[in-house]
Amino acid sequence: MKDPKLPFQEGDPVIFLDRKQRVYYNVLQAGKKTDIRGDMLPHDAVIGRTEGFLLRSQRDIPFWVFRPTINEHVVNMPRGATVIYPKDLGVILQYADIYPGAKVVEAGHGSGALATALLRAVGPAGQVISYDVRQDFINNARKNLKNFLGEIPNHLVREANIYEQFEDDAVDRLILDLPEPWRVAPLAAPHLRPGAVICSYSPTVLQVKSFCEALHQARCFVDVLTLETLLRRWNVESMSVRPELRMIGHTGFLTFARKVEPAAEAPIETEPAENNLEEISEPYESAES
Ligand SMILES: C[S@@+](CC[C@H](N)C(=O)[O-])C[C@H]1O[C@@H](n2cnc3c(N)ncnc32)[C@H](O)[C@@H]1O
Repeated sequence: MKDPKLPFQEGDPVIFLDRKQRVYYNVLQAGKKTDIRGDMLPHDAVIGRTEGFLLRSQRDIPFWVFRPTINEHVVNMPRGATVIYPKDLGVILQYADIYPGAKVVEAGHGSGALATALLRAVGPAGQVISYDVRQDFINNARKNLKNFLGEIPNHLVREANIYEQFEDDAVDRLILDLPEPWRVAPLAAPHLRPGAVICSYSPTVLQVKSFCEALHQARCFVDVLTLETLLRRWNVESMSVRPELRMIGHTGFLTFARKVEPAAEAPIETEPAENNLEEISEPYESAES
């Protein structure tokens, strides 16, 4: 993995930040210049330096130079498919309990945003296996991952239709970002270890409903939770301290569940509880309360 403390090299992504906090993203190339409305920032003035310094453009405008954070990288990198946004990536890492050393399968790989976050979280002792049907997306994601993370020997990409083939065993975590995730739950179930977490990210609630039904029908998933994340930035400037006027209104819903051993008398609801207020408990209610 790349060490952000080291000097910039050709192929590293870079962020130029102007006085109005506008972010300009590029990938460093010897002899190249980033063109900002006709003003030029030469990459040769960045290569060999460490991040956090002030660079003056050809028109003498100051720009701060940084390595992109993971958030800046995934929203600016070249895209094949739509990425999972940082607000959801953070929740996936936490709620799907992605831990150092875990064996994680993700599908589809898309532009590689989720894979980037997963690879950082599992660390060198873990493994991430990415499925996608589109070779062009896989190639684009490979470049995005290499630019940001460097060499990643613990990343395996399978060009395969995950609705039809699931090749991995003893999987600790399975994360789905697919049009029809409900087709994967029954196929993948025997390949997840008991205690594994399955998670699906879907833009529409009809997808969520079908996925949850598939989880219940598989009879080996419990502790099903669906949520969405709303993130609102604030403007804090002089006396203008208020929420920003624009926000990302909707990205997707996240559903999480735990895999259990198949048991003849498993206490698993065949149908989710419907409008049963007595069954609604407070989030984080303790066992004693
Ligand atoms: C929304 S994109 C995933 C974006 C990715 N999670 C990211 O953060 O960059 C959905 C991906 O699923 C892939 N896909 C769709 N159906 C698939 C299938 N049956 N098997 C494997 N990949 C599939 C598509 O090619 C596409 O790249």
